[in-house]
Amino acid sequence: MATPRVLHSGATLIALTLLLLTGAPRPQAQPAAPAVPIDAGDIGGVVTGKHGPEAGVWVIAETTELGTRFAKMVVTDDHGRYVIPDLPAATYRVWVRGYGLVDSPRVTTARGRIVNLTAVPAPSAKEAAEYYPAIYWFSMLKIPDRSLFPGTGPDGNGMPAAYKTQEQWLNAVQLNGCGNCHQLGDKATREFPATLEVAGRSSVDAWTRRLQSGPGGSSMVRFIGLMNTNDGGHLRRLAEWTDRIRAGELPASVPPRPNGVERNLVVTVYDWHSPKYYIHDLIVTDRRHPGVNAFGPIYGAAELSTDDLPILDPVKIIKTTMRVPIRDQDAPSSALANPVVAPSPYFGREQVWDSRVNAHNPMMDREGRVYYTAQIRSPKTPPAYCAADSGHPSAKVYPLTRTPDGFVQNSRQVTVYDPKSKQFTFIDTCFGTHHLNFAEDADDTLWLSNNLQNELALVGWINTKKFWQTRDAGASQGWSPLIVDTNGNGKRDADDTRLGLGLYGIAYSPADGAVWGSNIGHPGYVIRVQPGVNPSETALAEVYKVPPPGYGMRGFDVDRHGVAWVTLASGHIASFDRRRCTGRLNGPGAAEGNLCPEGWTFYPIQGPAFAGRDGAAEGPYYTWVDQHDILGLGANTPIGTGNFSDSLHVLTYGKVIQLRVPYPMGFFAKGVDGRIDDPKAGWKGRGLWVTSGNRTPMHIESIDAPSPGAPGKTLSSPLVVHFQLRPDPLAH
Ligand code: HEC
Repeated sequence: MATPRVLHSGATLIALTLLLLTGAPRPQAQPAAPAVPIDAGDIGGVVTGKHGPEAGVWVIAETTELGTRFAKMVVTDDHGRYVIPDLPAATYRVWVRGYGLVDSPRVTTARGRIVNLTAVPAPSAKEAAEYYPAIYWFSMLKIPDRSLFPGTGPDGNGMPAAYKTQEQWLNAVQLNGCGNCHQLGDKATREFPATLEVAGRSSVDAWTRRLQSGPGGSSMVRFIGLMNTNDGGHLRRLAEWTDRIRAGELPASVPPRPNGVERNLVVTVYDWHSPKYYIHDLIVTDRRHPGVNAFGPIYGAAELSTDDLPILDPVKIIKTTMRVPIRDQDAPSSALANPVVAPSPYFGREQVWDSRVNAHNPMMDREGRVYYTAQIRSPKTPPAYCAADSGHPSAKVYPLTRTPDGFVQNSRQVTVYDPKSKQFTFIDTCFGTHHLNFAEDADDTLWLSNNLQNELALVGWINTKKFWQTRDAGASQGWSPLIVDTNGNGKRDADDTRLGLGLYGIAYSPADGAVWGSNIGHPGYVIRVQPGVNPSETALAEVYKVPPPGYGMRGFDVDRHGVAWVTLASGHIASFDRRRCTGRLNGPGAAEGNLCPEGWTFYPIQGPAFAGRDGAAEGPYYTWVDQHDILGLGANTPIGTGNFSDSLHVLTYGKVIQLRVPYPMGFFAKGVDGRIDDPKAGWKGRGLWVTSGNRTPMHIESIDAPSPGAPGKTLSSPLVVHFQLRPDPLAH
């Protein structure tokens, strides 16, 4: 804050001491902060509060005159100074948001102006708390006591027998269950929307009703059903949680203001698509060559929601959509598996999710082609080369000829869009697809996960060089089950063990060509696949279970040294470094994942915990390693998504810092990518691009929110957020 800095000056110290000794009144004016230099495209100034300069608060500039929602925000420095750099031409409303404050009145201004702002202290703790991220409210939930685990079922202690530990229950509530799809604790979930029509009902009945809303209703009913207990289960816990909030109970802790390097952040928020359609992921460049597609469009994947996939032009600030085709017209729609159970308070009975493309994750190659894991055909019609008698080398070892009925979420193939020719190309894979990443090899091998378990747990690949030369999808692909060398002879044999754990995230290790993945089964596993010379027959897998205190894993990544990084619901970023293993990694027991606990290291992330627990009550969806130092905190910096915290958690110098999106509240990161648009332009020429992947974009704070963090009349669309880190909080 300002005072300690001022005291650094000896002269001021003496003057102040004299003042105190003589009992003279404190000077009215604060010592003048050095001037705030700005350019014609910037807005800057000083934020002053009741006690002088306000350090570590946000100044937000928003306009409605561009082709997307647009807000750019920065943090004030020790002297309360701020500079919002490089704003596009428009009229802006500028205001202060910060912890301990309520939003200051919005001031209308233009670029190139000095705008000094007055921070408004929150009149009460209640009003201050309206600005706290969801996790502060969510962590007020009373969780079942440790003594209720292991569950012994309805005739025993009431807890379902499926829950062996408190951590497993928490995993379902925080991440691999409720928290997978949206925040809990934001305004839209900790209060009831007026349009829900539950007036006069008990809180438990109101919760029973609200969990049936919209196309997520069947999933929510299924998940809550798994958490029934004799004492009313999770439904009762949720009802009590909102009752306590309605009665005025407030979060147990107050979020710290951004500090240190966290104040160097510039956040730019755009939106794309519509409130009805959620976006799962985005891509901006070739991960291996982050200058590809410089300044170019950003491509999103809308998963179950729609076939019209979003595109954002970040230079012109224009959002469009692109209708992605399917190859076979009998490909089933996601609507079959996600019918509206009860009316949504936002969209009524409309079947808003209706997609046959079901694009989950895009990836870009060095030509700028976009590869979506997407459905092109019905699961009932696998191509002939999937069968053993086709002679396909992978099918001979492990044929894939199942023909399930209806819509199958992870039964996707690959659709490629070439922005140069505007053509779509379908690559029909025998294996289902989910996440994908390119190898750094001569074949530009694309490795694919499928998030399927047991007999469908396998790794797939496409030799994209061969595919573009021959257009022969069958000959260009391969797959292999995940076999662990449990007989310990160093190679794959008939008596080795087949792993039933499939890959969720997938990443390539440039250190040794291994392919790594995560498995979301409790408590979470990382899996390493060494392809070998002929992967259909030689690929060998290793599996490492996350040891205590870790639990709750989803997306993951690998750094350039081959270290695997995950962000965990236990409230950690964790690494698994195979180079640290001291014992054998194959042989008996290798398929259970208990080998090499010494490979793991845990770094706590920021945020409040549930009463009685240690780790932040986060639901961190993904981890992305900044292999090329795009953000500016060094190569190989691991970045975890802070899904309940409106933030990214970034590990730097052994400590996790938090890069927060203060406005609009409700940012729920899924896809992370980084691009260098101009390598000569320093921090200005680079940044991370992150989309909010919540299935409830309409829960995000809207532009005309009636209160902080709330949906308003103009429902929010999914966000695209640019994160840039300056060398200091005033750089422009
Ligand atoms: C498959 C994704 C998914 C999962 C898993 C999920 N939800 Fe939801 N949830 C949604 C969607 C989609 C909506 C928005 C419904 C609408 O209004 O259209 C929603 C809405 C809500 C709402 C707001 C309803 C209202 O009153 O407006 C609450 C509260 C909620 N979910 C809680 C939960 C809880 C608790 C769980 C775990 C038991 C859970 N959700 C699991 C997708 C999901």
